[in-house]
Amino acid sequence: MKTLYLTTEDEDIKKAAEIIRSGGLVAFPTETVYGLGGNALSSFAAKSIYYAKGRPSDNPLIVHISDPSEITDIAMQYPKNARKLADAVWPGPMTLVLPKFDVVPDETTGGLNTVAVRCPANDAARRLIRYSGVPIAAPSANISGRPSPTRWEHVRDDLDGKIDAIIMGEPCIGGIESTVIDMTEEFPMILRPGLITPERVTEILGLPCDYDPAIKGDPAENGDLVPKAPGMKYKHYAPSAEMKLYKGSPENVRAAIESEKAKLEETGAKVSCIIYDSSENAARQLFGDLRKADGDGADYILASALLTDDSVAYSVMNRMLKSAGYNITEV
Ligand code: TXA
Ligand code: MG
Repeated sequence: MKTLYLTTEDEDIKKAAEIIRSGGLVAFPTETVYGLGGNALSSFAAKSIYYAKGRPSDNPLIVHISDPSEITDIAMQYPKNARKLADAVWPGPMTLVLPKFDVVPDETTGGLNTVAVRCPANDAARRLIRYSGVPIAAPSANISGRPSPTRWEHVRDDLDGKIDAIIMGEPCIGGIESTVIDMTEEFPMILRPGLITPERVTEILGLPCDYDPAIKGDPAENGDLVPKAPGMKYKHYAPSAEMKLYKGSPENVRAAIESEKAKLEETGAKVSCIIYDSSENAARQLFGDLRKADGDGADYILASALLTDDSVAYSVMNRMLKSAGYNITEV
């Protein structure tokens, strides 16, 4: 199929909304990463999303709404604590998991009886949802397994010819996907780390908030723990280049990367190096840098682990470790 390239002008967003209404797929910008959107209430649209991405169909999609009040159209319960989080963070990079209404088909939720809901902080995204008149199911707009797209050009590289339209919005300001929070138990639990940290959740609710134990550390050492967000069990964000991470003091890491780079280049290999100065910059740049290394034909990516131990660094490291297949050396 020929993919249509659209601007964020109202006229174009209305064309995109028409495509969503008639069952088609449109990639659109959000503040985290670009999403691949389809009508969340249509099992046909949900199936097309899985097909276009090559995604396993047991991995549920996030349902996007244009205004927090629309949550009660799709979630059967909207408990006080979920409401407090929504009031404080939405529109923003946070997804809440709640029991679903039957209008949301099993194809959208991967057969689960819960639905993941998010109100994104991007004007084009919210107009698209509003003009469509339906909630929009949207995973990240990449081929399954590849780094998530933070620019429309990344979406074009993965999905041109496979989807109906791409909205050419701004580069994403957040850069990593939203924090997914399970709100179905007594205490909120983070199923996927992101820019909304457990400390922030605790500050808003006055309740303890921890990560799903199954997503902490190396999955090879996590035994039988199964992540509650099915997507967290898959290999993700893999560049084509082989990626190695180094952890230690800034001097040691720089020295280790320099010497490994020299050694690899002697064998004729092409090497890209990645070192970030802050967790926020790392979040914003990581996926784009991985794609750039691949575009440059790198055989190896040598990257520094993040030096700070704040929760945003933790969220970025969650992605970097997956990209590197947990290949991390202490120096
Ligand atoms: O920032 C984001 O969240 C982006 C943009 C486009 O909004 N979307 C995104 O979607 O990252 P996706 O499909 O790539 O990731 C959705 C994650 C997966 O790990 C999935 O397993 C989890 O959310 N998830 C979705 N519905 C769930 C549910 N009902 N229960 C538990 N986890 C769920
Ligand atoms: Mg994804």
